[in-house]
Amino acid sequence: MADIKNLKNLQNYEYSLKKEFEGAEDFLPLLGTDYVELYVGNAKQSAHFYKTAFGFQSEAYCGLETGVKDRVSYVLKQDKIRLVLTTPLVEGGPINEHINKHGDGVKVIALWVENATKAWEETTKRGAKSFMEPTREEDENGHVVRSGIYTYGETVHIFVERNFYYGTFLPGYRKWESHYNPEPVGLKYIDHMVGNVGWGEMNTWTEFYAKVMGFAQIVSFDDKDISTEFTALMSKVMSNGNGRIKFPINEPAKGKKKSQIEEYIDFYNGAGCQHIAVATNDIVATVGAMRDRGVEFLYVPDSYYDDLFERVGKIDEDVEVLKKHKILIDRDDEGYLLQLFTKPVVDRPTMFFEIIQRKGAKSFGKGNFKALFESIEREQENRGTL
Ligand code: FE2
Repeated sequence: MADIKNLKNLQNYEYSLKKEFEGAEDFLPLLGTDYVELYVGNAKQSAHFYKTAFGFQSEAYCGLETGVKDRVSYVLKQDKIRLVLTTPLVEGGPINEHINKHGDGVKVIALWVENATKAWEETTKRGAKSFMEPTREEDENGHVVRSGIYTYGETVHIFVERNFYYGTFLPGYRKWESHYNPEPVGLKYIDHMVGNVGWGEMNTWTEFYAKVMGFAQIVSFDDKDISTEFTALMSKVMSNGNGRIKFPINEPAKGKKKSQIEEYIDFYNGAGCQHIAVATNDIVATVGAMRDRGVEFLYVPDSYYDDLFERVGKIDEDVEVLKKHKILIDRDDEGYLLQLFTKPVVDRPTMFFEIIQRKGAKSFGKGNFKALFESIEREQENRGTL
């Protein structure tokens, strides 16, 4: 506990210094991503998949055995990343409707705050629709306060205040001990989470993040940046004040064939979280381990590596090793990044993961968009949705 408190103090200190330097008061200080909750059809089996294939560790559980009658949740952890997988145990409730409409997908992007009541007040007074009024939850290990607001589609942000909680995850959960503990694959933290929204809605949601949550736009790509011969999309990246939370927002753009964002919207039945980008310090090891455990990644042609040197210059890694693992590389003014995208991890062509290793670069791999989208088009072609 002491380490966590020290870390928090350090982060708060850094944050207050930055704010002092900037001379502006952030009305919604965010300490990081607290957890990501997916509503899924079968949490027990999803948990097994994320442990086996992604190297997550068993962390916490709630369900019938802990007195919860209508749903079950498994909490998985890898370094700073917490995934919560929730399945209903009864018919006809909002979780069932969510799964029926969207398939398995992200319901909650939870944000760690010092004061969940203030976070809710500041955002709702700026126009956010409330999902959950500030609620104190407690057990013998202390208390938390949570509150929540809606964002795009039926996705929500829950603000979690946990300064006085010393138990496992949240009140009501018990520690989940398992005999099956596959090794982590080196995933460290959530780098960014991307939202797909409908035609003409990108600016609505970037304005939402600016006005309601105090975020700033850090990057913008139009359909000329992100297009191939056939398909296109537009994107803007929103970031909070300390840069720990980054939400790119995509919308489809007109092309000769169907945009991958439109395909997502069709199958998800509306706006939702498209991908979770998770950071690693050793992408070759991480991607190699994930492939060995059955994760499927997007195809990258060998020709992608032909002009790599001219495009990104000198890099630390052996190009042959990157080529073997089909890892993409891009450079910006501050350094370079390595990245790779999984195929959708659910049955509908909706949610996927990005594995990213940053070596100075703060951007999102613009130089890879063309190769990446051509690869996605191959998949769309196979699905008959191009
Ligand atoms: Fe990404």
